[in-house]
Amino acid sequence: MKRIGVLTSGGDAPGMNAAIRAVVRTGAYYELQVLGIYRGYQGLIDDNVVEMGPRSVSGIINRGGTILRSARCKAFFEKEGRAQAAETLRKHGIEGLVVIGGDGSYRGALTLYDEHGIACVGLPGTIDNDIGGTDYTIGYDTALNVALEAIDRIRDTAESHDRIFFVEVMGRHSGYLAMMSGIAGGAEEILVPETPTSIETLVEHMRSYRAKGKQSAIIVVAEGDELGNAIQVAKQVDALAQIPDSRVVVIGHLQRGGTPTAFDRVLASRLGVRAVEALIEGVSGKMIGISANQVVLRPLEEAWECRTQFDPKLTRIAHILAT
Ligand code: F6P
Repeated sequence: MKRIGVLTSGGDAPGMNAAIRAVVRTGAYYELQVLGIYRGYQGLIDDNVVEMGPRSVSGIINRGGTILRSARCKAFFEKEGRAQAAETLRKHGIEGLVVIGGDGSYRGALTLYDEHGIACVGLPGTIDNDIGGTDYTIGYDTALNVALEAIDRIRDTAESHDRIFFVEVMGRHSGYLAMMSGIAGGAEEILVPETPTSIETLVEHMRSYRAKGKQSAIIVVAEGDELGNAIQVAKQVDALAQIPDSRVVVIGHLQRGGTPTAFDRVLASRLGVRAVEALIEGVSGKMIGISANQVVLRPLEEAWECRTQFDPKLTRIAHILAT
């Protein structure tokens, strides 16, 4: 293998730059040429490719976002789009591809391999921490700490005004971030899609906290909760219980930006080095993950077939500690 490509795809995540840096520098270490592809699979279709070397990734380990940009590319779902992408890869002599992103990006990589024989390995990059085959995804730890800091700040003002706050945390299909930030932030209630509840039960809990002397409360709502987003939950609670003076905060994309934590940088570095070494060894169709603090190779399909979920016991722990 002489030439490899690297791209970031799907929602960006803090630490993706550290992963790009690791891929480019490991490539250089093994005397491979590394090409960066802009805007994910769209860049492959558009032939938006640039040669990279160790100096082109200087000073990025501490930066959020992705210097290669990212996109969710609809054209790549079509056979013609993938054929165009494969043509770009062939034109540049790219024999192996490192795809940094979520499970949607992996599905694309696998199809590219099946249809055009381009070797691909995946690095898990998403703040949601819901990809199977790895205990942690790149970006999750940073997003968790951003959400936690927001909750801590909201707690200050909630207590000062005896208010109830509904705080929405990201996670379209997963309550992982919500559960962890809620426990770490001492939330009175954590609404997640994994453990559905009803508005009636929520209101009942809120009344019992009041009865126990709590004047303020933080209710963390996962973006993808079955009762709706934080605004919708607040409205339903209000309709049932007329909670005076409640507020809603949507943390939103703040969780996607900012300086990656040490954990995310080290994780991205470890996984990035292994990704390139795997390609050199002739591996394809695998993702590089972390399991029990060891870097592991897993089939790409595991990413969506065995999604990582938080330990269900955490629901009970959160409930006990809200007493
Ligand atoms: O998958 C990462 C994520 O941030 C989810 O938590 C969120 O639902 C989604 O992406 C938001 O996507 P977009 O940036 O396209 O609004």
